[in-house]
Amino acid sequence: MILERGSAINTSELRQRLTSLDSQHRARLSADDIVEFVDLMQVYEGAMREISTKLEVLDSEFQVQFSHNPIHHMERRLKSPNSLIGKLERRELPISVASVRDHIFDVAGVRVICNYRDDVYSVSRYLSDQSDIQVLRVKDYIHNPKQNGYRSLHIIYAVPVFLTSGPHYTPVEVQFRTIAMDYWASLEHQLRYKSDLPDARLAEHSQTLLDCARSLQNIEVQMQSIHRDISGSPQEQEGDDERLEHLRSTGRGRHEDEAE
Ligand code: GTP
Ligand code: MG
Repeated sequence: MILERGSAINTSELRQRLTSLDSQHRARLSADDIVEFVDLMQVYEGAMREISTKLEVLDSEFQVQFSHNPIHHMERRLKSPNSLIGKLERRELPISVASVRDHIFDVAGVRVICNYRDDVYSVSRYLSDQSDIQVLRVKDYIHNPKQNGYRSLHIIYAVPVFLTSGPHYTPVEVQFRTIAMDYWASLEHQLRYKSDLPDARLAEHSQTLLDCARSLQNIEVQMQSIHRDISGSPQEQEGDDERLEHLRSTGRGRHEDEAE
């Protein structure tokens, strides 16, 4: 199951953002820029669909071979023009289509929510091994959780999209995580971006969330071990470090452990 997130453009937010840009003399976007932007987004949309299809095919193969669906569900979204402009501004980059193309690697995003941790590593390994796509960057926050407790495996792929002008290698950010990691990340995200709590309460909740992350990790390990005992699907834990080492040493992936 693939859930599409926020694909409609919020025009009033966009107008506000563009107006504020003009008044700061930061940029004036021409009709050509807008056409070029729409064309570019079409390519990202294609790349995102190609990755989702590959993942759906892997999931069905697991079902046929091991009677187990590693993927619980997927979500995908294109970054809105509004948040693209926001991100360029935060990074003090020029507001242009070329900037988006050259510097933003999560314009197309797919989130893969798996049942177990083994599934995260098997699905990501089978996808990364496919010869028509390239691994551009790996951030393994499962082996190296962020200080706040965040865990997920982030991989940026370059996916060829075949247009009339030939193949265009396009980045897609894929976040692999378990149901428990997703459950945790949703609440942490709400706390961080959507709450205007006093600092003391925020700190208290952040500490509780860190405790929750540890508890969820323990629960996952126990449930994973029961599942390993009763299923014949691939077990991944032992091979993880070697796999990432392989990606690093062959130059197929740049690994970054540290938090943003
Ligand atoms: P940005 O995309 O600008 O954040 O920088 P980056 O590409 O260096 O980021 P990274 O790969 O570390 O994380 C990108 C995405 O992962 C974010 O947009 C979030 O969706 C998710 N993410 C990263 N850290 C956290 C976190 O601490 N909490 C939650 N809830 N999500 C996170
Ligand atoms: Mg991002």
